[in-house]
Amino acid sequence: MAIDNHLRTITSLMASSSYRVALNGYGRVGRCVLRALHERRAEANFEIVALNDVADLPSLEYLTRFDSTHGRFPGDVSIEQNRLLIGGRPLDIYRKADPSGIDWAGLGIDLVMECSGAFSTRADGNRFIEGGAPRVLFSQPMVSEHDVDATIVYGINQGELLGSEKLVSNASCTTNCSVPLLKLLNDRIGLEYVSITTIHSAMNDQPVIDAYHAEDLRRTRSAFQSIIPVSTGLDRGIERLLPELNGRVQAKALRVPTVNVSALDITCHVTRDTSVAEINGLLREAALHGPLRHLVDYTELPHASCDFNHDPHSAIVDGSQTRVSGPRLVNLLAWFDNEWGFANRMIDVASHFLRVAKPL
Ligand SMILES: NC(=O)c1ccc[n+]([C@@H]2O[C@H](COP(=O)([O-])OP(=O)(O)OC[C@H]3O[C@@H](n4cnc5c(N)ncnc54)[C@H](OP(=O)(O)O)[C@@H]3O)[C@@H](O)[C@H]2O)c1
Repeated sequence: MAIDNHLRTITSLMASSSYRVALNGYGRVGRCVLRALHERRAEANFEIVALNDVADLPSLEYLTRFDSTHGRFPGDVSIEQNRLLIGGRPLDIYRKADPSGIDWAGLGIDLVMECSGAFSTRADGNRFIEGGAPRVLFSQPMVSEHDVDATIVYGINQGELLGSEKLVSNASCTTNCSVPLLKLLNDRIGLEYVSITTIHSAMNDQPVIDAYHAEDLRRTRSAFQSIIPVSTGLDRGIERLLPELNGRVQAKALRVPTVNVSALDITCHVTRDTSVAEINGLLREAALHGPLRHLVDYTELPHASCDFNHDPHSAIVDGSQTRVSGPRLVNLLAWFDNEWGFANRMIDVASHFLRVAKPL
């Protein structure tokens, strides 16, 4: 489906329909989802009516008002009668580590957007469903594809949602960046092998100064003193979305000492001779006139990563960095705001999921 048509549909539905959504986990992604929804209110078909996080209410209010990366909240934020008031709209607040301890049904919600990262299996997801949540959208890829009813990269496969799904994953920020570009190159030129290095800003699972980490020795190291290799499931995530590339994708990931905005260094062995002009022409056309134009952008300006802070695209191709050697070895650089771009895709997928959802 053309993204334009889809966005028009969402906008026209706004007048007649407003679904009720709860956020579980109010960290980087959760707060960006709420703020992006506030900024996009004119087109949104849902509102957030409740938040669950382990933090106390004054901290939630403070972290909503002031954000070191995205600036002050563009609206009024206050506390009133144990609820958070955002732009005059009240949100019920819960502090439960176990989602089955919340009466989601009593809240009358249509969807939980799970943004804590603490739940990654079908059994975890069912704890929300057992508490009365009708549907859950996860802000991460699940352990296996069988742990959800669908994994969606917006712009690629949201049309696969039938409306009967209960557990859906929004994949990862890196999958959202890479899959639209790889699908385009595979459809138009043909991909033999793909190798990707994620260059990702620091995240809250890393310490500022060396500290114990239960699972990963490298994550014991200070986020702001080193470039740190970490594990990634990006290759398997891509193959989940583009099974035609099965067994032909590899990925690794480096965390770097910046607070937001990341990049993918994508190397593809293609099936026929090509050139920088052809590759950039395809990507520029997709960004300017193609159905993905609200999701993929293209630039040749001499940018640095911070220029893309608060950019809602899933991928911004930096055409000045495209290289072709061989002439079948293609190398690309694509930027993405790992927080803001991904939060905007959470909203797009939630809107679509709710629109197609069948009544329970
Ligand atoms: N940040 C990104 O760029 C990005 C992009 C795409 C996807 N994601 C994914 O999104 C998920 C969240 O990432 P994040 O960066 O937003 O993490 P984060 O900043 O650490 O936020 C997670 C929030 O959830 C809270 N929390 C922890 N356990 C909880 C529970 N059982 N119930 C309710 N709330 C709980 C955390 O509280 P405490 O801090 O007190 O534990 C924190 O406030 C992860 O799966 C991540 O992989 C992140």
